[in-house]
Amino acid sequence: MAIPERQIIVCQSFRASGGDPKGLCHKQTDGFLQYIDEEILDRGLDCLVTATTCLKQCESGPILVVYPENWWFKGVNSKDVIDAILDGIEDGAPPEEYLFSS
Ligand code: FES
Repeated sequence: MAIPERQIIVCQSFRASGGDPKGLCHKQTDGFLQYIDEEILDRGLDCLVTATTCLKQCESGPILVVYPENWWFKGVNSKDVIDAILDGIEDGAPPEEYLFSS
């Protein structure tokens, strides 16, 4: 398998100590990893979906990050938001309303 062009990183709240999901993101993203994976296939995007540890932005979660663009999204709590983000990847412009800024 070739190295993917892009990664979509989805916070699943795991903590380094103990490994149990303790943050907030995983509680609002049930089924999202599979949905994103299916949408990537349907859209023909060259992306790898990765579940990750807590991204230390819990108060704005659920958090999703797109690399190499380094787009950080907040409030990714529905498939409609995911669709908007995937549309943004296809269009080359992120949906501004969900972009995270500290
Ligand atoms: S649990 Fe997702 S940012 Fe902390």
